[in-house]
Amino acid sequence: MANVIVIGAQWGDEGKGKITDLLSRSADVVVRYQGGVNAGHTVVVNDRTFKLHLIPSGILYPETECLIGSGTVIDPQVLIGELDQLEKLGISAANLYISETAHVTMPYHRLIDRASEDQRGSHKIGTTGRGIGPTYADKSERIGVRVLDLMDAEGFRDLMHRIVPQKNTILERLYGLPPLDAEEVITQYLAYADRLRPHVIDCSLKIHDAVKRRRNILFEGAQGTLLDLDHGTYPYVTSSNPVAGGACVGAGVGPTIIDRVIGVAKAYTTRVGEGPFPTELQGEMGEVLCQRGAEFGTTTGRRRRCGWFDSVIGRYAVRINGLDCLAITKMDVLDELEEIQVCVAYDIDGVQVRDFPSNGRAFARCQPIYKTLPGWKQPTGDCRSLQDLPQAALNYLQFLAELMEVPIAIVSLGASRGQTIIVEDPIHGPKRGLLHADLTEAIRSAS
Ligand code: GDP
Ligand code: IMO
Ligand code: MG
Repeated sequence: MANVIVIGAQWGDEGKGKITDLLSRSADVVVRYQGGVNAGHTVVVNDRTFKLHLIPSGILYPETECLIGSGTVIDPQVLIGELDQLEKLGISAANLYISETAHVTMPYHRLIDRASEDQRGSHKIGTTGRGIGPTYADKSERIGVRVLDLMDAEGFRDLMHRIVPQKNTILERLYGLPPLDAEEVITQYLAYADRLRPHVIDCSLKIHDAVKRRRNILFEGAQGTLLDLDHGTYPYVTSSNPVAGGACVGAGVGPTIIDRVIGVAKAYTTRVGEGPFPTELQGEMGEVLCQRGAEFGTTTGRRRRCGWFDSVIGRYAVRINGLDCLAITKMDVLDELEEIQVCVAYDIDGVQVRDFPSNGRAFARCQPIYKTLPGWKQPTGDCRSLQDLPQAALNYLQFLAELMEVPIAIVSLGASRGQTIIVEDPIHGPKRGLLHADLTEAIRSAS
């Protein structure tokens, strides 16, 4: 039994929702630790599709406690929409808890996010427009609104009468937008507060209690390593820390309780929004991956940019997150390809590099160096063990595991729960460290 962090090893949308849902069957507590409604996590169960933005992907298990931690930013309107949707589908949210110290996304955050993107023109980041950057900026600036502020009607009223005029100056003078009416904001948000109140608690305390009772805790990352504010492709990043280190800060636990970190990566790469992407495929092959992988954003519906698997960013994700193992998703999307390319290194101005360059300008000049592998040209969606996989698919997985220098614990071959090969369950393995000294050996022996 182990406490496990699940993170995205690329630029988001790796299939974290699917993997978290899958592992949640053995988890007692699932915690979202950063990000806001920019995230879109899809869980498919028995032909029903759930799109979650803030609610942890463990919510479909009635016994599992789901926590939205202190490091998240909460848009109450979207969260209530999610609660309504679950209720309609007969899924109980009685076990959903919201941290009182999480920050709240306000109407001015959304307006400023969109207006500042417009103003950046060709230098825009391509944000989701959900107010994420401005909410985190106010948190750092110490003028943010926390869930506990929202729960105190009089305090909240005073706070809004102080902050809304300041924000109106920005909206009107900087962006030429109409001002907000403080009273309207207060009425709207106090109604949200009433709906959310039963769920609001001190999350850190609840997690600590679960630790003492030796419960299994799953930490669900949003976004991905390359979108991390400190370690991603700055400035084309989000405003929080999706990396494994962010889980401790965002949930309010110490690193000593973490046993294992799982990185989720697609068998190829996608990215939404602006920013460099060395293995991006602009032509027909990009379109093939986009269509076969249904690569359209869960939150904004934007077309995701598609490209080959990039082991340079993969190895970087292993390093930054201290990954113990990988879950490789969307293998089935490659089923029909004659050949598959994998980026093994970059060429920067004639010099070959294997390590991710921390200088964003150098990263933008990287040309991928590829190794070509044969495709398997047969469907894999019904494979349920490594032995069922075609030899070329096993070779592909083995090649990725060797390049990344971590074992592959899970292989996903379709969106639904069942379309998965669990080589070794990361929650049930021994506590701490690598799951099994030689997981790649398991792949090799299945060959
Ligand atoms: P997340 O943000 O990391 O949770 O990922 P998203 O849910 O935004 O995007 C992943 C998409 O791929 C979703 O539509 C999933 O249902 C789907 N998906 C997940 N795993 C697989 C897989 O192995 N094969 C296929 N074809 N689709 C998958
Ligand atoms: P999940 O959890 C993919 C991207 C945006 C943009 C950048 C900054 O579903 O993997 P923001 O609105 O956060 O200020 O936008 O980050 N982005 C994501 N891309 N998946 C996500 O979440 C993302 N959340 C933000 O497209 O490039
Ligand atoms: Mg997503």
